[in-house]
Amino acid sequence: MKSTAGWLKLRAGPLFAGKTVGFVPTMGALHEGHLSLLRRARRENELTAASIFVNPAQFNDPRDLERYPRTLAGDIEKLEKAKTDFLLLPRAREMYPDGYRYRLNETVESGALCGAHRPGHFEGVLTVVLKLLNLVRADRAYFGEKDFQQYHLIKEMAEAFFTGTKIVPCPTLREADGLAMSSRNLLLEPEHRELAPALYKALRSSVRPAEIKKRLVALGFQPDYVEERWGRRFVAAKLGNVRLIDNVKL
Ligand code: PAJ
Repeated sequence: MKSTAGWLKLRAGPLFAGKTVGFVPTMGALHEGHLSLLRRARRENELTAASIFVNPAQFNDPRDLERYPRTLAGDIEKLEKAKTDFLLLPRAREMYPDGYRYRLNETVESGALCGAHRPGHFEGVLTVVLKLLNLVRADRAYFGEKDFQQYHLIKEMAEAFFTGTKIVPCPTLREADGLAMSSRNLLLEPEHRELAPALYKALRSSVRPAEIKKRLVALGFQPDYVEERWGRRFVAAKLGNVRLIDNVKL
């Protein structure tokens, strides 16, 4: 695997030798959910590229950025095992040579759901993903439906800016108890980890969103929202200081 620590000139051309490239952007602390995206990318393309970049611009809470799990050595092992061809590992000053003066702002749907509770979050996500797509120029990029609003906004952005990269959605991978896999699960206190699968259970119940929200509060969650949109039901809730999100098709 070629890694690009401190080096950003990853361009289709000599490096990719005209082969098709599937790209999986991540923030690291890799788990099976990330690896499922990489496996899909490998099936559908001749070469695969991943990126690991804990993007400061998308963290509205500085403590969340500080606490975000970083497991680079283990991540690289997993990427090697998954036969990933390229790893893009940029530093913040390389991704933001402009000091984040130039930003991508979506004006209709990034204020809903997670956007309503995390000011500036999707601006940071869309900006960094556009930069990554411009650097890698992959044929396809893979995103998890676990972050459905993110996938939806990225797909439309990639089309709106003629990136030429097809955005491919991938199903949510779950732990045996139903909890959606997430890097943040590593941060859950043991008693909260035990409680966490109740989020998915509540999400699938037949009662209305307002009722689900009440149930979650009674269980000890601090829900941000339970809402239906785009034929799906979405939830975001905190357990201690860890924020979990999930969604299901209705
Ligand atoms: P991260 O949370 O590391 O997730 C990277 C990709 O893995 C995203 O597309 C996410 O939806 C997907 N993913 C996470 N958990 C998953 C699961 N349980 N099943 C399937 N896919 C899953 O999302 C980000 O990073 C960042 O916002 C990023 C897009 C990299 C921009 O910084």
